[in-house]
Amino acid sequence: QVIITACGSSRYAALVGRYLFSNVGKKFCDVVMASEFGYFVDSVDKGTLVIAVSQSGETADVIEGVKAAKAAGAEIISIVNRPNSILADLSHHVISLNCGPEVGVAATKTFLSQLAIFYLLSFSMINSFNKARIQLSNMSSKITEALNCNNDGLIKLSHKLKDKSSFYYIARGMNFAIASEGALKLKEISYIHAEGMPAGELKHGTLALIEQDTPVVVICPADYTYSETLSNAIEAKSRGAYIIAVSDKESDIYDFWIRIPKVDELLYPMVTVVPLQLLAYYLAVSRG
Ligand code: BG6
Repeated sequence: QVIITACGSSRYAALVGRYLFSNVGKKFCDVVMASEFGYFVDSVDKGTLVIAVSQSGETADVIEGVKAAKAAGAEIISIVNRPNSILADLSHHVISLNCGPEVGVAATKTFLSQLAIFYLLSFSMINSFNKARIQLSNMSSKITEALNCNNDGLIKLSHKLKDKSSFYYIARGMNFAIASEGALKLKEISYIHAEGMPAGELKHGTLALIEQDTPVVVICPADYTYSETLSNAIEAKSRGAYIIAVSDKESDIYDFWIRIPKVDELLYPMVTVVPLQLLAYYLAVSRG
């Protein structure tokens, strides 16, 4: 069995990795948040591979979980940005992000690098590392495009929404991890409450909280999740939500369109997350 363990943004990158392992490698694995991992060690044994994801390599919850798993006989791989960190020293194998120091606690470049590593790992499972590397090679220009074409609009949007008390981020499939990451960035950087959730869950309760002009960020690239996610956006809009869509496909359902370039559907997370990192930044600036 394979268990991925991480906290915060690293855990959301792990959630994307989990979909890639299933979609590309046809292998199921689970992601256990590091602060809970200690309670699952009874099911860890020498047949278990633990992938620990931590850009700092120093997060105590991750280190505690890995120590317990190692004591139970598991093999440990870590994905870190600091190869001489405590976590790296504990691991049997280390994959380095090679990003240079992540200056802000709220990870940005290391998050993208984690996504790239999981993409490469999933294609390596089917002996297609080079195909993945070629696909990744033009992603920096796509990310630059996603940044440049949204910069001015995001500044205006942040002035409009800076006094909102709560944001909801919804998506499906691998994009759900980006909904959670977008919400985490908003909380950590602008101190606005936010909740990331699977779009299909909205109607099971949380929809009751959506009022007139409640901002709902809908991450809906033109992939296998689009039509169902759009129908969830319509549910929210019927309650008065202000729909902020992150998509390469236009719809008159959107009140604000964060336009992203079309990319290979397994790489959408790399271009959907960056405008959301920038939105969190501009909202923080507009709130002083
Ligand atoms: C948390 C931070 O303390 O640690 C998050 O608030 C971060 O922003 C998380 O993503 C995980 O950090 P690391 O270094 O283990 O990837």
